Amino acid sequence: MKINSSLINTFLKTTVRGAYGASLHIGKNDKIAADKAAVDEMRNELNKIEMSGRIVIGEGEMDDAPMLYINEIVGTKSGDEFDIAVDPLEGTNFVAKNLPNALSVLAVSRKGNLLHAPDIYMEKIAIGKNLPKNLLDLDFGVEKNINLLSEAKNVSPKDLTACVLNRPRHDAIVDILKKMNVKINFITDGDVSGVISVGYSNKNIDIYLGIGGGPEGVLAAAALKCMGCQMQTRLIFEDTDQRNRAKKLGIRDLDKKYNIDDMVKGDVIFCATGITDGDFVKGIIDTGNNFLSETLVLHASSKTNKIIKNENKK
Ligand code: FBP
Repeated sequence: MKINSSLINTFLKTTVRGAYGASLHIGKNDKIAADKAAVDEMRNELNKIEMSGRIVIGEGEMDDAPMLYINEIVGTKSGDEFDIAVDPLEGTNFVAKNLPNALSVLAVSRKGNLLHAPDIYMEKIAIGKNLPKNLLDLDFGVEKNINLLSEAKNVSPKDLTACVLNRPRHDAIVDILKKMNVKINFITDGDVSGVISVGYSNKNIDIYLGIGGGPEGVLAAAALKCMGCQMQTRLIFEDTDQRNRAKKLGIRDLDKKYNIDDMVKGDVIFCATGITDGDFVKGIIDTGNNFLSETLVLHASSKTNKIIKNENKK
């Protein structure tokens, strides 16, 4: 069942408020305070919406997170039932250090349609639209995937650009990309933006590769679904505790490779409001009594893909 596109404006208010909360802490070198402010503002706005929304991706499990914890019910608790994935502050470091690309992010689907990913690492590979279906696979390895992509795009590997999170765990991937002469666009944080960049030809990113947060993976999958891009992911378990947490969230096959439709079923709305200026949207601008915001809004069934600018009351 589709989600009515009139709800776009309702849900975008939640990331606008989240972004505003975090913006009050830009450059204060306090990730925790920034995250808390984003969570408080977003939760407050979510609770105004006439719905029974279940947080499936949030700030953590109930014991660790007092607000927007996994399974918390938000909204007026009457009306339609939704699954909600949130990252009220994606890029805590960006806000703390006043760096570009901090976002407040939300994805919403009908109940039962979003993967309940635990807060553990996830392998990710993503490519843009208009490419053969199921072209790449995490099990093919980096070299084969790059060769397949270069054949499908009819360009040589040296003309491809890969976006990679700059982490030592990616050294092996980077070595192969270097050997194949693929250009690398390193990001320091914020792989939701990194993954989404494959959907925009003006960003010149042909492929996203590497390991990042599982929750961020589901949020990025929601955006790519709206744009007709491709993504495959697999959770990485470091210990028994992580395996048990996944099982508690209903994940049976721990080795499963997830394509977009396994992570996001049916219709979905995705909103990402800029906190600091970034690749897709500008950050919050304080204008005195009000503030200006820019939000990237995507909606699968109405094929909405636009930036909405708002002037909001503080
Ligand atoms: P936070 O906003 O929670 O700090 O996450 C930022 C981020 O860069 C994500 O975009 C990414 O998925 C994850 O951290 C990567 O984790 P790590 O910093 O442990 O490599």
